Amino acid sequence: MTKYVNAVINDESGEGGLPVLEGTLGPQAVDIQSLYSRHGLLAYDPGYRSTASCKSAITFVDGDAGILAYRGYPIEQLAARSHFLEVAYLLMFGELPSAREAEGFREAVCQHNLLHEQVISFYRGFRRDAHPMAIMVGVVGALSAFYHDDMDIRDPEQRINAAIRLVAKMPTIAAASYTYSTGRPLRYPRNEYDYAANFMQMLFGMPNRDFVLDPVQARAMDCILILHADHEQNASTSTVRMAASSGANPFACIAAGIASLWGPAHGGANEEVVKMLSEIGSPENIPRTIARAKDKGDTFRLMGFGHRVYKNFDPRAKVIQANAREVLGHLGLENDPLMAVALELEAIALKDEYFIERKLYPNVDFYSGLLLRAMGIPTKMFTAVFAVARTAGWVSQWLELHNDATHGIDRPRQLYVGETLRDYPRDRRG
Ligand code: ACO
Repeated sequence: MTKYVNAVINDESGEGGLPVLEGTLGPQAVDIQSLYSRHGLLAYDPGYRSTASCKSAITFVDGDAGILAYRGYPIEQLAARSHFLEVAYLLMFGELPSAREAEGFREAVCQHNLLHEQVISFYRGFRRDAHPMAIMVGVVGALSAFYHDDMDIRDPEQRINAAIRLVAKMPTIAAASYTYSTGRPLRYPRNEYDYAANFMQMLFGMPNRDFVLDPVQARAMDCILILHADHEQNASTSTVRMAASSGANPFACIAAGIASLWGPAHGGANEEVVKMLSEIGSPENIPRTIARAKDKGDTFRLMGFGHRVYKNFDPRAKVIQANAREVLGHLGLENDPLMAVALELEAIALKDEYFIERKLYPNVDFYSGLLLRAMGIPTKMFTAVFAVARTAGWVSQWLELHNDATHGIDRPRQLYVGETLRDYPRDRRG
């Protein structure tokens, strides 16, 4: 049964109703597609606070209840019981793989995890101190030159191939952007490792000795990748979808997503959290930081706090906090001064009226930075790790968009507030 909402106040005919669409979970949505053609009105929603930009069956987020689920499976269960490649398969294809499907997927990823040797030469064009995310935007975008002319994105099989290529190559690209900055030679992927462990050997392995894998850290990396794999229509995913809606090359679309993810309000936040905690230095400086965050005259925000959707708690933050404690304990870093500052800062902020009123809770980035730092990942690489994880979500959303034959190019409108029409001054020479 279709329900209607009265969207046009002056419509006395009663025919101005707009249909209300029901999803399987979460809020209903008013279908405003005919608003302009029928009523000459646009919907104004800068920042998309009340806009469902698409229908999606991939990820569900309930910000008030603190729920995140991939294809219906709660994130806590996936983090505890699954592994990243299984989650990537689930996101892409909708179901957990059978043992045979999982092995086939792993083989496909292993087959595509190398970079074309010519791609490797691109790295040398960057300054050694270039930010890894800058390198990743460039290198992933450049891959479109390798997989363009012979690729037909209207062919579903080729789309799946492109998606697997992206998931497979991203750790290699990210690790190379780090080793390049250190002056070390690029490490090739090793197929005897699982996805997360392979990423770690490419980050930390040295050419002159065997890589010794720490299973606790490899599992923590796998968990970080699972937690960050998708998050419905966030800024970077929406960027990927918008770029893709024009039929653009998938590698170029993912490069656009990486660019969006880089910002400090999005994936760049975990880097900012560690910087902030280091600047605070010790618990006695926390009140000053809290006062700055609350001061409307100061642009400073408590990094790792607040979320556009989670207004209760971020379920990923709970998992990652427990992980951070475990890894710090395992590495003998339980007295890490930054962890002490983080715990105290969280405790003080959660009792403060300002944060309570605005429903500002620690988000996933508040503890992910501490965990990555404990694992020896340099601060500049934090967002690159996030990009490796989110590639699984981006390609799944890209596949979903292309599987929907009804979806045309995304083309928002605007509320124009500029000059009204006027004549070019007669006495002016161009
Ligand atoms: N510190 C202090 N005050 C904050 C913070 C914060 N971290 N976040 C929001 N507020 C305040 C705002 O000043 C505003 O106050 P006001 O109502 O008095 O004007 C109110 O809370 C609402 O803030 P908005 O900016 O409207 O919230 P929005 O949903 O747009 O922003 C965001 C969400 C960007 C995450 C914001 O909370 C923020 O900047 N946090 C810090 C950066 C961060 O941790 N980002 C990571 C997000 S998670 C991820 O990408 C994986």
